[in-house]
Amino acid sequence: MKPRIHYTKPSITELEVSYATEAAINGWGEKCYEYINRFEEAFKAHLGVKYAIATSSCTGALHMGLAALGIGPGDEVIMADTNWIATAAPVVHLGAKPVFVDILPDSWCIDPELVEAAITPRTKAIIVVHMYGNLCEMDRLMEMGQRYGIPVIEDAAEGIGSQYHSKRAGSMGIFGTFSFHGTKTITTGEGGMFVTNDADLYETVLTLSNHGRAHSQTKQFWPDVVGFKYKISNIQAAIGCAQMERIDELITRKRDIFRTYREALGGFKEISLNPEPSGTVIGAWMPTVVFARKTGITREQLQKAFLDENIDARVFFWPLSSLPPFSEFHTDSNVVAHDICSRAINLPSYNDLTENEQSRVIAVVKNILGY
Ligand SMILES: Cc1ncc(COP(=O)(O)O)c(C=O)c1O
Repeated sequence: MKPRIHYTKPSITELEVSYATEAAINGWGEKCYEYINRFEEAFKAHLGVKYAIATSSCTGALHMGLAALGIGPGDEVIMADTNWIATAAPVVHLGAKPVFVDILPDSWCIDPELVEAAITPRTKAIIVVHMYGNLCEMDRLMEMGQRYGIPVIEDAAEGIGSQYHSKRAGSMGIFGTFSFHGTKTITTGEGGMFVTNDADLYETVLTLSNHGRAHSQTKQFWPDVVGFKYKISNIQAAIGCAQMERIDELITRKRDIFRTYREALGGFKEISLNPEPSGTVIGAWMPTVVFARKTGITREQLQKAFLDENIDARVFFWPLSSLPPFSEFHTDSNVVAHDICSRAINLPSYNDLTENEQSRVIAVVKNILGY
């Protein structure tokens, strides 16, 4: 059996180890927020936003941001059907209803035309996800949000390194959220970030993030509202600080891996890879290959071919409306979301992927195509 090729693995160097060790030894007492503050400052500078709050996960950051916007029972939140459940779960926890719309066939991101068609008087937010690092059509979505007075939120969990007309993914919406789960381009093990340019929203989320204790509150242990406990730890943030020092290198490596896939596979008309339209740069978090319908190749065949070669076979996200928790929202009308996931597969792309390993992945794809 050939050695296993995983689809993602973090890149942890001596720098991360030394910062985490330092935080574990000294990062207590009055120093217990030092790495957290540094991590937030570094992330703000990278993204070009005014405010950032490090969190225990992207899901938690989304939950607090949605709560701060006042989303609750009776409200609707529009999002793409092709998604990880983390985008929908906070909406459900707040008692609101996720409204799933179809994706575009080339970018696999939310279809702006269908967003507009789904708007009702109950729509309180639109969450856009930069799927696998591909970019949503932000100009159209932001203009629509403005026209209808509906906030557009960027779930940029997968969007590190992606840029839309020189603006970084996550920096354009009313707020943006990021994930530093171990599979992501930068990691803290588990972790996330809430970012915004809106001072009031920042203050509200800051209060919510501290169990409802306002920054300005001088009384000890005095929450003004019921909040959340979605804080990152100083030790996790120390790892994050080291990753931020390496962020350009980490993004460049992701893009290099994607370029190699594109050079080897981009010429075959039977498949398509993550698009990179002019004016955009993709962070290439998850290189993905979609087989043309006419090839007749299925997700199950792809899974088998990859597993036979001892390569992780990560399937394309199922439409959320097809999953058991959302059976009441089941719809057959999101045809693109249902179709693409039936003939696509994610490709391995971790930092230390060797040339030989990437050649093995490319060979599997070519072999399926009969080349
Ligand atoms: C689009 C999207 N949103 C949210 C999340 C959740 O991130 P976390 O695990 O940090 O909560 C993920 C994680 O994979 C994701 O891909």
